[in-house]
Amino acid sequence: MRRPYVFITRKLPDDIVAPLYDKYDVNMWPHEHLVVPRDVLLQEASRAEALITMLSDRIDEELLQQSVKLRVIANVAVGYDNIDIEAATKRGVIVCNTPDVLTETTADLTFALLLATARRLVEAAEFIKEGKWKSWSPLLLAGTDVHHKTIGIVGMGKIGQAVAHRAKGFHMRVLYYNRSRNIEAERALDATYCSFDELLEQADFVVCLAPLTNETYQLFNREAFMKMKRSAIFINAGRGAVVDEKALYDALIDQQIAAAGLDVFAEEPIREDHPLLQLPNVVALPHIGSATKETRYAMMQLCCRNVIAVLEGKEPYTPVKSQ
Ligand code: DGY
Repeated sequence: MRRPYVFITRKLPDDIVAPLYDKYDVNMWPHEHLVVPRDVLLQEASRAEALITMLSDRIDEELLQQSVKLRVIANVAVGYDNIDIEAATKRGVIVCNTPDVLTETTADLTFALLLATARRLVEAAEFIKEGKWKSWSPLLLAGTDVHHKTIGIVGMGKIGQAVAHRAKGFHMRVLYYNRSRNIEAERALDATYCSFDELLEQADFVVCLAPLTNETYQLFNREAFMKMKRSAIFINAGRGAVVDEKALYDALIDQQIAAAGLDVFAEEPIREDHPLLQLPNVVALPHIGSATKETRYAMMQLCCRNVIAVLEGKEPYTPVKSQ
């Protein structure tokens, strides 16, 4: 009997994919750090019952239209803005993501980025390695305090709440803005719901964890940066396109805000000569929010379990909720 065909768009560890090889015909793009070319993706998807995809793979109408056998797409990410959910749903294709398993890890990185930006850790590390340290000096690489300041979290999902939890450990006042109020989180985290504008005006640290949707596209534009304190630090660990990067660059150059810590970019990988990367008060990371071995393994494993569940006619563990 013909076994279902599963295509995986990136080389994943053998022990992770072993359960799939036992049951299905599996083909895996053989490169760990290279995105599968579009023509290969289209061709493979057209014969696949299941796809395991990365957030860099565009799964759109064109692909779905010609992938008539496809039953499930398991995306190795909690975000799924790379997938046209409506087009998938219309064709009965189940889309799964990886919530929960990455919450704490991504919150750790978000807070680390906030600390690194506030305390100028990257500059300081480069400074010492370049042999520039001549003396202890009162204002050498002086940053700004984090403790007892106000953090404003935009996007109070699970990761946002986990960041708020960390902020409480630093005795911070927590403001948040979200599509909907979360009374439970407010109680548990002593967080205050406010309007987007109020958050921008009051927060010392504005932390973006919002997913990319039509509503959040370039939410952080020129007007938004103008409303922030001149001493504000902007952190983005959500999605790059939630920010108008030109407006962010201008805000940093004009000292409209003090600094930015960015784990995500509108185009990834960001070009080495991108203007934002030239600024000393920008701490930039290559989208590593969930990148610990434990968590990335858990995400990949969850994807495999979702594929097996759907191909066996069972309920997937983590289908995208809006379907
Ligand atoms: C996600 O899962 O959406 C993250 O951005 C990956 O680190």
